[in-house]
Amino acid sequence: MSKRVLVVYYSQSGQLKNVLTAMLEPLVICDAVELTMLPLCPSEDFAFPWSFWNFFDAFPESVYCDALPNAPYELRDPENFDLIIVGYQPWFLSPSLPMSAFMTSDQAKIILNNKPVITVIACRNMWIEAQKSMKELLASCDARLIDNVVLSDQSGPLESFITTPRWMLTGKRNAFLGLSAAGISQDVIQKSTRFGEAIVKGLASNKEVENAPMLHGLGAVCVDPRFIASEKIGKRSFRIWGKLIRLFGKRGSWSRRPILGIYVLFLITLIVSVVPLNMALQSIIRRLFKGKMDKIIQSIEAPSGR
Ligand SMILES: Cc1cc2nc3c(=O)[nH]c(=O)nc-3n(C[C@H](O)[C@H](O)[C@H](O)COP(=O)(O)O)c2cc1C
Repeated sequence: MSKRVLVVYYSQSGQLKNVLTAMLEPLVICDAVELTMLPLCPSEDFAFPWSFWNFFDAFPESVYCDALPNAPYELRDPENFDLIIVGYQPWFLSPSLPMSAFMTSDQAKIILNNKPVITVIACRNMWIEAQKSMKELLASCDARLIDNVVLSDQSGPLESFITTPRWMLTGKRNAFLGLSAAGISQDVIQKSTRFGEAIVKGLASNKEVENAPMLHGLGAVCVDPRFIASEKIGKRSFRIWGKLIRLFGKRGSWSRRPILGIYVLFLITLIVSVVPLNMALQSIIRRLFKGKMDKIIQSIEAPSGR
């Protein structure tokens, strides 16, 4: 009997969808796998490219995983999938709002209950805190995380602080002013087929039943240690400011624009001052506490590892 695999995802510009298409090609052509794709359709309008205000206005709710429900969908035998692949992108160091809407829905609790899950993240390069929240959301559905794949931008961290917002706010992702193109390169996307091949093999040997990772040794996750502390500080600041901004009104309301404007100025100051400083500091700390840092990195990269 073929194994039933469900792929739940949301993709705005189509980047994550391209990643999943390349990665899952081996599952599509495998007779032993029945693949069901579930693209999430938000009931809110997340127009792409984003306007300046809509972009930043999404942050308080993203951080608090407080999303309006997605459009309804139908699934045959929702409680009987053998494996669920959850494809998502971080928004403000948290799972994107459409994915949060899915993960906090009653249907997700039925679909994910006691099921093995592989998360697939396609992002700029800051995903650690988002995956921490995702792990909590999965635990609240009694799901079992067996693997995690992370694909991120190839451009440098500071470069992508310019190129990704430019892409999100204008739709332009080409190289400009000596900076690399935004997003994940086509070559990296193509090579992600290796994960699909490993999933086909893993399913054939019932690894999902044993709770064993299928993607170990394939370079599924590689933590950039420079981001660990920056993300932690960033998420804490998002939580504090997000709570404050939410006191001024709902997402989209004019009443919260002044405080949001102040926050954006604060955020830009933080990015140009604290982030580079912290990254430099981190490389010193890493050298001093190598053993401890290696353990932290390993735990973030689990369960797939490198
Ligand atoms: C509102 C918003 C916030 C984002 N925040 C992050 C982030 O915190 N970390 C990150 O690595 N990428 C971030 N990104 C980039 C996305 O993770 C993703 O790479 C991009 O939106 C393209 O994905 P998609 O078109 O497949 O939806 C953000 C994008 C948006 C629109």
